[in-house]
Amino acid sequence: VTRSPAAVVAAAAALEVAQSRPGRLGRDWTPVLEGVPLFRGLSRRDLRRVAALARTKRFAAGSPIVRAGDPGSAFYVILDGKARVTPPSGRPSILRAGDSFGEMALLDGAPRSASVTAAEDVLTMWIGRAGFSKLLRREPQLAHALLGTLAARLRAAERSH
Ligand code: CMP
Repeated sequence: VTRSPAAVVAAAAALEVAQSRPGRLGRDWTPVLEGVPLFRGLSRRDLRRVAALARTKRFAAGSPIVRAGDPGSAFYVILDGKARVTPPSGRPSILRAGDSFGEMALLDGAPRSASVTAAEDVLTMWIGRAGFSKLLRREPQLAHALLGTLAARLRAAERSH
């Protein structure tokens, strides 16, 4: 079953409220992760592994999630709400449920390239540096999808200059 980002939102919000161990994603999160485009092609078993590496975190509207120039320690996927990416130069853009961010600083070890702020109340799942690295080595489809995102972003940046 491929679910849509809209289904991610509804299911994630309900689950987060219902969960018994706050901040942790148990195996009952698998259907939510099935709706995240980045995780397309991963089996249920793979998704359970992803869930085991991830935690949830909420950000109130207006609060910073990552700041440009800070060292990076986590990769994020938006499960509910919208966030605004503000690169130091270049156009701000909006990220929605199913979108991810924060991979760049983990991949190249350089500081955060942009600030990301909660544009409304946001529910994220995040994976730490070691977990992210493990995931990329284990899941080639996921690495491929992430490269696609980077290529699209590079093209958009070229166009806006
Ligand atoms: P990172 O540099 O770790 O932290 C900020 C994140 O914002 C970055 O990773 C990307 O995931 C994301 N990001 C940076 N620039 C853009 C952009 N121009 N459009 C969309 N997302 C971006």
